Amino acid sequence: MTATALRMTGVEAWYGPAKALFGIDLELRGGETVALLGRNGAGKTTTLRSVMNLMVRRTGDIEVLGEPAKGGADAIARRGVGWVPDDRRIFPTLTVRENLTLAQKAGRSKGREPVALDEVVEILPIMGRLIDRRGSALSGGEQQAVAIARAIVARPRLLLLDEPTEGLAPVIVDELERAVADLPGRFGMSIVLAEQNLTFVQSVAQQVLVLETGRLVYSGTAEQFAADPGIKEQFLAIGTR
Ligand SMILES: Nc1ncnc2c1ncn2[C@@H]1O[C@H](COP(=O)(O)OP(=O)(O)O)[C@@H](O)[C@H]1O
Ligand SMILES: [Mg+2]
Repeated sequence: MTATALRMTGVEAWYGPAKALFGIDLELRGGETVALLGRNGAGKTTTLRSVMNLMVRRTGDIEVLGEPAKGGADAIARRGVGWVPDDRRIFPTLTVRENLTLAQKAGRSKGREPVALDEVVEILPIMGRLIDRRGSALSGGEQQAVAIARAIVARPRLLLLDEPTEGLAPVIVDELERAVADLPGRFGMSIVLAEQNLTFVQSVAQQVLVLETGRLVYSGTAEQFAADPGIKEQFLAIGTR
């Protein structure tokens, strides 16, 4: 396992002329989970896109799994980075099994031994119930769960999850929480989790960063974060969700 799974130093990012990130620093140790918290528009998704070199122009230094993050999203993915974007897109005409099998093939072509479907079902039991259904027959929440399962199947070393609990039924959120908590120990995976669900974050992350209008306004351990109600009131609009 790499000592540092992801290091971002002074990362700034733009969409055309509009600046979206103003100096993000992050260090994620191998086998740990860091949460990116922040209201809508804070820059969580842009931070993940910066790691993938996708859709944004960025400056600053990013090291992924011990090497500079050079090249496009494909090159970054080939290094062992799994990305579950916020659009939760799966193939609608294929069954869940076919969606997952394609991801296994993609993982194998990148030289990684995919996770067996049985083990994916063990990690995310809802996959067992959905496995023979077509993508188009699934609810948005179910599609989101499949998108996450698909990323797990390719056995990434670094997994980027963009608001995985958004719009999910509570029972699926609980299942996902157990799955995400299990991944580092089971596979040695490191995880960057963009989220707004504090309960979820506090049960899976060791480190918490808070973004506000593209700036890092808080960084601490999960314990420090849990003990600091001020930061939640100030930046996370607690009580409104
Ligand atoms: N594709 C895009 N084109 C232009 N601006 C964007 C785009 N995506 C996000 N932004 C802007 O970048 C800022 C950060 O957004 P984003 O990273 O999506 O925040 P979050 O994921 O925390 O909700 C916002 O001001 C948003 O309007
Ligand atoms: Mg977002």
